[in-house]
Parts: sequence; structure tokens; C-alpha cells
Amino acid sequence: MTPTAAPDAPDPNTTLVCFCHGVLEAEIRRAIAEGARTVADVQAKTRASTGCGGCQPEVERLLAELLGAAKA
Ligand code: FES
Repeated sequence: MTPTAAPDAPDPNTTLVCFCHGVLEAEIRRAIAEGARTVADVQAKTRASTGCGGCQPEVERLLAELLGAAKA
């Protein structure tokens, strides 16, 4: 059986991570899936974290989550 997100988990397709540039979590996840490995890579692909920088911790968290999962 395929694991699924909890019913009350936030939807990455509607969760806004970068308010400055309107970047959704799903866009950041896609950038990482397509090869982004650093905050700078995500910035170049999505513009997330290129404004006030307030979303950088969340970008870092997503990188750690997805790249950590890739290493496991
Ligand atoms: S919220 Fe992402 S740069 Fe400001």
C-alpha cells in the first residue's frame, strides 16, 4: 500500500512558501526534484528567497527533507 499524506497535511500545491515572489511549496519541491541542491539553486530556479529572505529557513528545510530522503 502506498503511504499517503495525512488528510490534514498542508497541500504543497497551495502552500505559499515565498510571499515576496508568490512561490508555492510545490514549485520548490519540483526545483529540487529537477536538480537544485542548494538555496542558491532554488533561488535561481524559482526566485524563492531572493526578496526579504524570510522564507530561506523553509527552503533549507525542504532541501534537507528531500535531499535527506534521497540519501536514505
Ligand atoms: S518571503 Fe521569500 S524572499 Fe521574502
